[in-house]
Amino acid sequence: MPLVIKRVAQLKTAADLRAHLQSLGAAIPFDESLIPNGPLAQPVSLNGRTVGNRFAILPMEGWDANPDGSPSELTVRRWRHFGRSGAKLIWGGEAAAVRPDGRANPNQLVISTDTAASLAELRQALVSEHQSACGRADDLFVGLQLTHSGRFARPNDKKTLEPKILYPHPVLNPKFGLAADHPVMTDSEVSHLVADFVTAAKIAADAGFDFVDVKHCHGYLGHEFLSAVDRPGKYGGSFENRTRFLTEIVAGIRAVAPKLEIGVRLSAIDFVPYKPGPDGTGEPETWGDGPYRYAFGGDGTGTGIDLTEPIRFMKLLESLGIRLVCTTAGSPYYCPHIQRPAVFPPSDGYQPPEDPFVGVGRQIEVTAKLKAAVPGLLFVGSGYTYLQEWLPRVGQATVAKGMTDFVGLGRLVLSYPELPADVIAGRELQFKKLCRTFSDCTTAPRNGLVSGCYPLDPFYKARPEAKELAQLKRPGN
Ligand SMILES: Cc1cc2nc3c(=O)[nH]c(=O)nc-3n(C[C@H](O)[C@H](O)[C@H](O)COP(=O)(O)O)c2cc1C
Ligand code: SF4
Repeated sequence: MPLVIKRVAQLKTAADLRAHLQSLGAAIPFDESLIPNGPLAQPVSLNGRTVGNRFAILPMEGWDANPDGSPSELTVRRWRHFGRSGAKLIWGGEAAAVRPDGRANPNQLVISTDTAASLAELRQALVSEHQSACGRADDLFVGLQLTHSGRFARPNDKKTLEPKILYPHPVLNPKFGLAADHPVMTDSEVSHLVADFVTAAKIAADAGFDFVDVKHCHGYLGHEFLSAVDRPGKYGGSFENRTRFLTEIVAGIRAVAPKLEIGVRLSAIDFVPYKPGPDGTGEPETWGDGPYRYAFGGDGTGTGIDLTEPIRFMKLLESLGIRLVCTTAGSPYYCPHIQRPAVFPPSDGYQPPEDPFVGVGRQIEVTAKLKAAVPGLLFVGSGYTYLQEWLPRVGQATVAKGMTDFVGLGRLVLSYPELPADVIAGRELQFKKLCRTFSDCTTAPRNGLVSGCYPLDPFYKARPEAKELAQLKRPGN
C-alpha cells in the first residue's frame, strides 16, 4: 500500500506540526513566529565581503539554453527572478557545462569564450533586477556552477545518454543500459577535464562572477569521483586520490583567478539507487553481496549514513582555503526522494518510500552535524521547499541554532520568487504561490520540455508546453 501522506497545508498550528514531526521521528526545529530583522536578515562576512542575508538561491537549470550553450530569454527570466527574490547569495544560478560533451541535456549552458559575453549579461540581468527590487547590490554574492555531467551526460539528444564514467558501477551501469565493460575515462582524459574546469573558472571570473562552484553532487562527474573506491590509478581508491580532481582544479583556479572565491556543492550523503516496487512505492535496488561501497557518506547498508568521509572532505575544503559549501543529497536520477522531498513524484519516478518531512529532516541534520564538525565553513542547506508555509520558521530556527548559515531555496523560488524579500520585510506570505511539490518542473524536462513551474507560474501555465505536459501526465501515458 502506498504511504498516505498528511498534507502540509493540514498542519495549521505549531502543535499540529510538532505532533506530526514527533510521530515521524523527524528532528526539525522551528520557531513559532518570525522575528522582525531576525536571524534570517543578518549579514555574514566572507573574506572581506558582506553577504547581506541568510537566504541562498540554489542552482536550478531550465533545459532552456540555446543550442550553442548561451542563455535564452527563458534563462534570463529565471535569473531575473533569482535577483528579485531578495536572497543575497546566488549559489551558482544553474549548472553550466565546462565543455559541450559535459551537458546533461542539449539545452544546458556551456561556458566557453563564445558564450562568455552572454554569461556576463546573464549575471548583470540578475544583479540589475536585485538592485531595483532591493535598493542595493553591493552585498549580493553571485556564483556560477561548473559541471561535467559524467554518467548522466546527454549533450546532443535529450533522450540519449553519452556517458563519461569513472568506474563500472554495479547498479548504475545496468540500470542505465551500460555494459559492465563500458569504457571508463582515462587518467589523461581526467587531466584534460581539470584544465577545462580551470579555463571555465577564469571565464566566469572575467564575466564578473564572485565565485564558482566546483560541483560534486547528484551523481554527476565530480560526485562520482568520491565513490570511485575501486578505480585504479591516481584518481581512485584512497580518499586522497578520490579528491585529487578537486584539489587539482582548486590549484589551477588559484593560479589563473586568485581573487575568485571557490565553493563546492556536495551530495554529503548518498543512497543505493531506488526503483518502483510492486505498488509503485520506491524500494532500494539490490547490489550483490557485502556492504554497499558506492555511496559517499553511506554506512555500507545502502540507506544509512556515516559522516566520517564527508567531515574529512569538509576539513580538506578548509585546508584549501574554501569557505563556501552547499550540502545536498543523493541524485535526482536514482534516489530523488532524499534529494528533493516531494509528495507528488515526477511521472517517471516512484511513490515516496517515506514521509517527505523525513527527507527534509535528514538533510537538515546532516548539514548541522557537518557545521558542528567544521564550524569555520559557511554552509548552505538544501531541501527546505517541502516545508511550504513552515519554511521561514524552520529556516529561522536552523540559522539561529547555528545548524546552517544559509537557507537554500530551490523549487519554491520557481513558484514564489519573492518569498525571501517578503520574509525579510516582515510581510505576510503569499500562500497561493507556495510550491506544493507537484514535480512538474522535473516531469517536464524528463519529457523533453523546458522546465518551469507550470501549475503556479502564470507565465508557464499559458505556454503551449503546459497542454503537452497535462497530456503526458494523463493515466496510461
Ligand atoms: C527544475 C530543477 C532544476 C535543478 N537544477 C539543478 C542544477 O542545475 N544544479 C544543482 O546542483 N541542483 C539542481 N537542482 C536541485 C536543487 O538545487 C535543489 O537541491 C533541490 O530542488 C532541493 O531543494 P528544494 O527542496 O528547495 O527544491 C534542480 C532542481 C530542480 C527542481
Ligand atoms: S512545478 Fe512548481 S509547484 Fe511543482 S514542484 Fe516545481 S516549483 Fe513546485
